[in-house]
Parts: sequence; C-alpha cells; structure tokens
Amino acid sequence: MTIIERPEMTIIERPEVLPAPVLERIAFARTPISPATAAAVAEVLSSGWLTTGPKVAQFEREFAEFTQTQHAVAVSSCTTALELSLRSLRLPAGAPVLTSTVTFCGAVNAILHAGLRPVFVDIDLDTLMPDAESVAAAVHRSGRPAAAVVLHFAGHPAPVAEIAAAAGLPLDRVIEDAAHAVGTRVGERPVGGLSAAACFSFYATKNLPIGEGGMVTTDDLDVADFVRRCRLHGMSRDAWKRYLPGNSWRYSVEEVGLKANMTDLQAAIGLAQLPEVPAWQRRREQLVARYDEALAGVPGLVRPARPSVGRHSWHLYVVRVTPEFGMSRDDLMVRLAAAGIDCSVHFIPMHTQPYLVGLPDVDPRHFPVAEAAFAQYFSLPLYPDLTDGQVDRICAEIAATTIV
Ligand SMILES: Cc1ncc(COP(=O)(O)O)c(C=O)c1O
Repeated sequence: MTIIERPEMTIIERPEVLPAPVLERIAFARTPISPATAAAVAEVLSSGWLTTGPKVAQFEREFAEFTQTQHAVAVSSCTTALELSLRSLRLPAGAPVLTSTVTFCGAVNAILHAGLRPVFVDIDLDTLMPDAESVAAAVHRSGRPAAAVVLHFAGHPAPVAEIAAAAGLPLDRVIEDAAHAVGTRVGERPVGGLSAAACFSFYATKNLPIGEGGMVTTDDLDVADFVRRCRLHGMSRDAWKRYLPGNSWRYSVEEVGLKANMTDLQAAIGLAQLPEVPAWQRRREQLVARYDEALAGVPGLVRPARPSVGRHSWHLYVVRVTPEFGMSRDDLMVRLAAAGIDCSVHFIPMHTQPYLVGLPDVDPRHFPVAEAAFAQYFSLPLYPDLTDGQVDRICAEIAATTIV
C-alpha cells in the first residue's frame, strides 16, 4: 500500500483491491423531452385554460398534416382511440373482429369494451404480425369477420390492403392500431388515412411521447365527428366551444360517450415534441443499423425484418433467440439484467390470457407460429438518447453469452 501525502488530503492507493467498475444501468425505455417542452407546459399552466381547448385543436391540425390525413381527433389514449373508432363502425353487438394474438391487452380490451368479439390471428415468423395467409386461415376457421384491427407491430408497416382483402373486408371496415406507427409509412403514405381510422399512442415510451394520450386520424368525416362527440360523454359541444364569446351554454347528449378527451397540457407537450420526431426517427435508424451490424455474426440470434416497401418507425427492436444460440430467451434476459441491461417482451400472446379462456377459438393449436415465437422473442433498448457505446455494450454482452 502506498500513502501519498498532499497538503489538502491524504490519498490511500490500494491497487490490489480496486473496486470493479460500476456499469451504468441501461434502461429499457426513456422519455425524450425536448427543451421547448417545459416552456410550452408552463405557458399552458399560466394561460388559465388546462382542459381541452386551443392547444388540442392546434395539435390536431398539426398531427393531421404530419399524417397527411383530413381529420385528427385527440383522445386520452390509444386504447380509447381504438374503442371509439370501432364503435364508429356501428357493428352489431358481439360481431367478430380480427386482431393479432401478439398484441397489447389494451387493444383487445378496446374490442371487448366496444361490445365486439376478438378473433385472434396467428403471426408471420419474420414480421411477428399477421399476414394475408394467417388472416385467411383465421377466416377459414372462424368465418367472415365484421371488421379487423390491423397492427403495425414494432413500427413495421403492415400490409393493410392485403390483409383487408384476405379477410374479405372493405378498407372502411379496418381500423389500424398505430400505437407503434408514428413515422411508419405503408408504401409512400404515412400511416393515418389508409383505413377507416388509425389509432396512435403518445404513451411515455412511444415515438412521440407525451406521457399519456392518443389520436384518431381518418379521412372519413363521420368517423371523426363520432369520435369527437364520444370522447366527451357524447355531448354536442365541449366546454371550450360553449364558453367562447357569443356561444350558448346549451348542449345535447347524442351518444353514450366516454370521458376520453385530451387536455391542453398534454397537447402542448405533443406540439412541442412533434417537430423533434424526424430527428428522433433518424437516430432510431442509426441505432438499428448499429445493432444490425454488431449482431449479424451472432449465431442463432435473429434480427428484426426490414420492410421491402414503406418505412419502419423502429418503435421496437425485437430479436429472436433460436436454439442455435445455445441459451434460452429467458436465460439471456436474466443474464442481460444481471449485466445492467433492461429488456422487455412484446407481447404475451393474447389467446393464452386467462381472462379470455371462455372465448371460442383460443385453442393454442390455432396459433403455432405465435406459440413457438413467444418463447424466442424479446425487445432490446431503443430510444433516441441511447448512445452508440450503450448499443455496443448490449451487443458485446449478447455475443459473449453465445461463446460461454
Ligand atoms: C400495440 C398497442 N396497442 C395499443 C396500445 C395502447 O396504447 P395506450 O397506452 O396509449 O392506450 C399499446 C400500448 O402500449 C400498444 O403497444
């Protein structure tokens, strides 16, 4: 042991017991907040109007422009966006609605809350979402659906028109679950106006994060009007419109609506964050290229498919751990967690969820691809302020695992 005397302190150097370097934890997701956001929130707080008002109207206009759609209606979440969009189709109670089995429970609950019946569809192994073939198999098994919810899983563009055709549905009986699809393009067109309605999420981890919030985009005025009324109890006019100078306090209630409006506070965050989306998208693409390159040589680790046409928003980077890797997905996730790397799984197949066992048609034998893939897939961290060094550390940890 060496003792070094300095006038201001005594440093004791013990090279033989140097502590192991403490590695910073890599979170699975982080919410980027642009510098303009805090100021925008403060402005709304001091404006005297916090609930649905001018900021929501402005956010709707700018989001409609971003998605190149005619109407955008802001709501409290993607879950309420899906429920209201489905209800706007005015289908008979209990009507069957196709949906991927590999989706978020909120999306299935939206079908149930709309009084409809989910019919699950198996997935394609490459994209981890239904394709025309698995949709045709579901229709063959369960009969013609009344509607379909088409998910752009992880931000990969779904073949909306092919799926509608395979289901025997016109596009105005399709609702897109665009929770992952801010930035996704199907062909040349941004997700938004391809079907009856597209439903976006602004949850804290999403590509346009607000914390909570959702948006319905559509080119159909009837759908937009229905969602606008029903996001606030079914009332004909919201408070902002009733209290504008010269306006009447009167309103009528025309539908059984939800309390699912967006506040001006949320809209101010969305408005401040929206201009950042293109730069955040480019950063996601850079990170994906880095992951792809570093993981290319890892045996048994399957990287996410890239779309042949359109554009992936890279909300999630989902890999598969096949037997050739030499360790299970679960063990690899435990090992990464021990190394300070947080990962997640999107999603547990819905046909296996206990609350749905009473539904017809949840027999696991109908979902062979989802059953096999579920044991293999998991999502690595991906967000704009993830650093190149963090991606390298994650990939090095995965590569080291296969060698052990
Ligand atoms: C595929 C999918 N659909 C719907 C939702 C629901 O979004 P929200 O939390 O905005 O209701 C999510 C949320 O994670 C999701 O991943």
